[in-house]
Amino acid sequence: MSIPHLPPEIETLTPSWAGETSGLAHLVSTGLDTSHGQILYLQDVCVSFDGFRALNHLSLEIGVGELRCVIGPNGAGKTTMMDVITGKTRPDSGDVFFGETIDLTRHREAQIARMGIGRKFQKPTVFEAMSVADNLALALSGDKGVWASLRYRLSGVQHDRIDELLQITRLAEFSHRLAGLLSHGQKQWLEIGMLLAQDPKLLLLDEPVAGMTDAETEKTAELLCSLKGRHSLMVVEHDMAFVGSIAERVTVLAEGAVLAEGSLAQVQADERVIEVYLGR
Ligand SMILES: Nc1ncnc2c1ncn2[C@@H]1O[C@H](COP(=O)(O)OP(=O)(O)OP(=O)(O)O)[C@@H](O)[C@H]1O
Ligand SMILES: [Mg+2]
Repeated sequence: MSIPHLPPEIETLTPSWAGETSGLAHLVSTGLDTSHGQILYLQDVCVSFDGFRALNHLSLEIGVGELRCVIGPNGAGKTTMMDVITGKTRPDSGDVFFGETIDLTRHREAQIARMGIGRKFQKPTVFEAMSVADNLALALSGDKGVWASLRYRLSGVQHDRIDELLQITRLAEFSHRLAGLLSHGQKQWLEIGMLLAQDPKLLLLDEPVAGMTDAETEKTAELLCSLKGRHSLMVVEHDMAFVGSIAERVTVLAEGAVLAEGSLAQVQADERVIEVYLGR
């Protein structure tokens, strides 16, 4: 399959901290058209592995600025769905659109990340031998490579953004600590901060509170709620107390398709959801 080159307006995507744009100019600079209020569309997406249907005509939409929770039993296809959105897995059929016009199935993983879709995997991948602030500086400086980035002089705007990210991630008092010395939860927040440094429009988080203490889980809920509006978020979790503390709209996946969607109370009362997931 041939992969087309990105249009120039996407290749030259600049992070928002580099200078605000407005109106049509903003659309041109980002290439993202969300004029219908949706940031992500999945329509009839199918993925098979050796004949096994991991995604089976999955259709889902995420609104701009929304925080969507996705729940469902093991093997339902939640991670596979994120793999499809981020270009890691190609669907066998179906549509995957970022905004109205960007067909994600035609782009590579790195391009999709640059277009503004950030993904947090379960295991934190921070640079343990660097300080918290340096990890954020590295993430802010983008694709320059580690050594070039360390020599790279941060602008005042970038210093302000690092301070802001330290506040958001509750790591301000640990800014000089080596990332390797942080707790598991703090590493997760640092990685979220590093993703935010790229100013993603859509952030995908796969089981963000797995392995966290109750106190860390609570702080993570506050952190994610504070991101709503500025970013669109899709959060996959099994921890129902956590889901209850952040959820607006909840999607239940089962056997590769949407089983139910609505408020947490609505899906919790759904007999089919109780049978395949919550009742176990
Ligand atoms: N690369 C792959 N090769 C073969 N099978 C795969 C692959 N990736 C996923 N699967 C299968 O697809 C199905 C969906 O897996 P997926 O990881 O998306 O589920 P999930 O909803 O994220 O589950 P969990 O809650 O356990 O994380 C599973 O049966 C899994 O074994
Ligand atoms: Mg998974």
